[in-house]
Amino acid sequence: MEQLLFLDACMRGPEVSRTARLCRCFLEEYRALRPETRIVRRDLTGAELPVMTAARAEERDALARAGSDSPLLAPAREVAGSDLILVGAPYWDLSFPAALKVCLEWASCLGITFRYTEEGAQVGMSRARALVYVTTGGGPVRAQNLGYQYIQGWAAMMGVGETFCLAAENLDVWGTDVEAALARAAGEIPALVRRAAGR
Ligand SMILES: Cc1cc2nc3c(=O)[nH]c(=O)nc-3n(C[C@H](O)[C@H](O)[C@H](O)COP(=O)(O)O)c2cc1C
Repeated sequence: MEQLLFLDACMRGPEVSRTARLCRCFLEEYRALRPETRIVRRDLTGAELPVMTAARAEERDALARAGSDSPLLAPAREVAGSDLILVGAPYWDLSFPAALKVCLEWASCLGITFRYTEEGAQVGMSRARALVYVTTGGGPVRAQNLGYQYIQGWAAMMGVGETFCLAAENLDVWGTDVEAALARAAGEIPALVRRAAGR
């Protein structure tokens, strides 16, 4: 069964977050196209994963070497074992909330999401066909979408095939018709879903 991993960093929660609204549209559309898809949501809004330290990184790598089923390895296993990754994250301070970065650090795990060849080349181990990054910004986003640029590099390192970005901009700028801006972004979702599904 196909698995879609939803990394939910829509920090204001599903009731308020405009980013979460776009993510819901994406998930509904994807489910309509691929009803058999299993959706795994990792809720990052409570920032429950501990910030990575050198000691924790060593512990994580030791757990990975031992093949442990520790929950600390779950982010990496989810990234490795998903066919599609949806990241929902508002545009915060030119990138995205720190809770997402913490999760991505836990997910970047030697032996689970990447490895080195005997020649020293780094090879991603995720089976994900694509990653879709959904964001909304109070001001302009596309001119300095640093969070997405980072995500593109991270996804390539993990072995994810393609990345796509959906952004609604200027939502906090006085005079913006927020509903119209969100509707415009939502209008891009059907085509995005087809591309993410490889159709
Ligand atoms: C902590 C924080 C940092 C933010 N940083 C930026 C920023 O750097 N640039 C910007 O245009 N908007 C910024 N915003 C505004 C949000 O990007 C905007 O309100 C966004 O739509 C929030 O998404 P949400 O409705 O999904 O929570 C920030 C908001 C917060 C709460």
